[in-house]
Amino acid sequence: MSLEDQKKAAAEEAVKYVQPGMKVGLGTGSTANYFIDALAARKIDVTCIATSAASQARAEKLGLKMSNIDDHPFIDVTVDGADEFDSELRLIKGAGGAMHREKIVASSSRFMVVIADQSKQVKTLGKFVLPVEVSRFGVNATAWKIERALKHMNLPTKMVLRQRDDKAFITELGNAVIDCSLGAIAEPEKLDTLLNNIPGVIETGLFIGICGVVYMGTDNGVVELVRK
Ligand code: 5RP
Repeated sequence: MSLEDQKKAAAEEAVKYVQPGMKVGLGTGSTANYFIDALAARKIDVTCIATSAASQARAEKLGLKMSNIDDHPFIDVTVDGADEFDSELRLIKGAGGAMHREKIVASSSRFMVVIADQSKQVKTLGKFVLPVEVSRFGVNATAWKIERALKHMNLPTKMVLRQRDDKAFITELGNAVIDCSLGAIAEPEKLDTLLNNIPGVIETGLFIGICGVVYMGTDNGVVELVRK
């Protein structure tokens, strides 16, 4: 099965979680798009809360009923993709720069389901860059403090300010993103705490203790991984 087919198969499995009347958080990215398509195809009465303008637009176009987190602060299930997950279902997210909205929506959900192809499964988080969303005000000062935290954790300090079209990438919430190439994050919880304590850090791409189940597409079908 191609990776695209694996993403689609995982999305079709996750859609079975959704029951009529539910409030459903919609993730962001190519895998989440397959879920949005599969959910719309089921034609059941649900209310959706999107994590990005792109997901909002796709869901609206397909006729899904949309609302927002302020009107629905308690969500039944959120289904989203990930850049990486480990055996404890700890995630790295944020390649699309939507991690702040994604984390608010996922953590407001009774259940977060991640859908992914098999390339996203890692033994140790950190193969993929760790995105850190930061305030544009004082971005260099915040970057320096992030560097200090990485050094404290004996992690490499390879960091870049994310660019798009030769300009600093700005998230939908108006922030910048610093991508950290760490290789292997031995203590993700500790790193997350350190980073979240830095003034100017809005959000990290680490999602810890949030995801309950991963549906992973593989060459032999979809595998369900449940957090213990
Ligand atoms: C966006 C995300 C995405 O869910 C993550 O990057 C996975 O994307 P894709 O399904 O396209 O591989 O976190 O901020």
